[in-house]
Amino acid sequence: MATTRYFAAVILLSFFISCQSQQVNVTIFTESQCPFCTRLLREQIWPFHATHPGIANIQIVPFGKGNCELGYGNRLSCTCMHGQTECDLNRLQNCAISYFPKKHLGLVTCIQGLKTLDEAIQRCLPRLSPRTQQRLIQCANSQTGEVLNYYSMLNTHKAGIKIWPTAYVNGRFFDRSYPMEVEICRHTDWC
Ligand SMILES: *[C@@H]1O[C@H](CO)[C@@H](O)[C@H](O)[C@H]1NC(C)=O
Repeated sequence: MATTRYFAAVILLSFFISCQSQQVNVTIFTESQCPFCTRLLREQIWPFHATHPGIANIQIVPFGKGNCELGYGNRLSCTCMHGQTECDLNRLQNCAISYFPKKHLGLVTCIQGLKTLDEAIQRCLPRLSPRTQQRLIQCANSQTGEVLNYYSMLNTHKAGIKIWPTAYVNGRFFDRSYPMEVEICRHTDWC
C-alpha cells in the first residue's frame, strides 16, 4: 500500500517536472523600426503564439542599436539607430511590456514597424480602457518610458547583440535559417 502510494507520488512528480521543462523560453531582441524584426513578429512569433498558446515563454527586448545617457538635471536620454521614432516606439513597447507582464505580445506586435508614435496610439490602443491608454501614453512620453528603454539597452548590451532581430531559444542563439516554429517545436512535445 505504502509502496503503491510512493510510486504514484513519483509518477505524479515526474509528470510535473516534464511539464515544466516542456515550456520553451524564447527571447527576441528587436528594434521598432527594423523591417526584419517587424516580419519576425508579425509573420512568425504572433501567429505561433496565437495558434500554440502557452508553449513558448516569449520575452521581447525592444531596443536595438543605440545608447542612453544621463544629461542635464539627471534626465536620461536615448538615441536609436533609426532615429527618434524608433526610440518613441521602443518606449511604447517597453511600457506595454511593463504594464502587461503576461499579456503584451499582441500590443507589442501591433506597435512594431509603425511610422509614428501617434499612429501606434491610434491603431493599437483603442481597445484598451481609457485609463490604461492614458497610462501607456504618459509612460511613452516620459522618463518612465526612457528608463524602461535604458533597461532594455542594458539587457541588449549584456547579451552582446549586434544584429536585429536576434533570437535565443532556451538560452541558445538561433540563426534564423529555418522557421521559428520548427526551432521552438524541436524543444517540446506540445506542438
Ligand atoms: C526558462 O526560463 C525559466 C525562468 O527564467 C528558467 O527557470 C528555466 O530553467 C528556463 N528553461 C530552459 C529550458 O531554459
